[in-house]
Amino acid sequence: MTDHTEHRLAVIGAGVMGTNITALATGHGVPVVLVDVDDEKLAAARLTVRQKLKHAQLMGVLPEGRGRGELVTTTTLADVAEATTVIEAVTEVTEVKNKVLTEVGGLVAPGTLVISNTSCIPVDEMATWVPRGDELVGVHFMNPAYLIEMVEVIRGTGTSDATMERVTALLSVLGREGLVVNDAPGFVINRLLHPLINRAAMLVQEGVASAEVVDGLLEGCLGHSTGPLRTADLIGVDNLADSLVVLHERTGDPECAPCDLMLQLVRDGHHGRKTGRGFFDYRKAAE
Ligand code: NAI
Repeated sequence: MTDHTEHRLAVIGAGVMGTNITALATGHGVPVVLVDVDDEKLAAARLTVRQKLKHAQLMGVLPEGRGRGELVTTTTLADVAEATTVIEAVTEVTEVKNKVLTEVGGLVAPGTLVISNTSCIPVDEMATWVPRGDELVGVHFMNPAYLIEMVEVIRGTGTSDATMERVTALLSVLGREGLVVNDAPGFVINRLLHPLINRAAMLVQEGVASAEVVDGLLEGCLGHSTGPLRTADLIGVDNLADSLVVLHERTGDPECAPCDLMLQLVRDGHHGRKTGRGFFDYRKAAE
């Protein structure tokens, strides 16, 4: 068992998930170095993390008496070198993750836990990009990570027992429970969820029902707390399309090729909540 003072996190990628994970960690007293290539993303992230921490405080989900972990933001990837754990949360594009993890592998000391928050890329594939693949594990944090207590932990074929123990200790410090699955494209959650969202979008594309009606049916009749298209807007339609491409390439399942409507939303810059519009329009609600 470890306590929060033994952990120093580096989170790479200051987007939707990087900011969520940073809020979760700093809220649990763990210091974070947050890295991104984009200075504007880092400036926005500092604000977003503060807002999420305020929300977490209001929701009563932060531990008492630990204080906040320090947050440092940087565009220098080498600043991850002092971390006890590196969490990669960059864009879901194989080449981008390959480049980042290859560089991380050259920067961190043996014994550093390397986590990828990938949605769909298999852990075994990523393990070949780092010098010590046994120290790499997938942790699929849910969005919003600072509120949802369960995570999907993906054990690669070569992930060591020691790495599994260390990730369990970290998750416990962060108040998270992990359910462990074996490696596969999309693992369990996204192998199920992403094709569902894609099909929901296809139904809108075919004119079978509007986005409101598709989500209304799944929420009202099947008891889903959030319909698939609102979920898509929360995830980010751009990220979802990238993840579907990864799934399609690796499974060959035609249901995983992102549908035209989704690709059109991406081209139009309607990426969901983060841009104010996706399958639904959030701009009025924000006024
Ligand atoms: P995002 O698009 O919001 O953020 C990605 C960030 O990575 C951007 O800020 C970008 O500037 C940064 N980035 C790109 N290349 C970089 C590099 N070379 N070095 C440093 N930073 C770089 O994406 P999001 O949604 O946060 O997704 C991140 C990862 O988390 C993806 O693998 C995604 O599949 C996964 N994920 C996403 C969830 C969601 O609900 N959005 C849920 C669970 C996992």
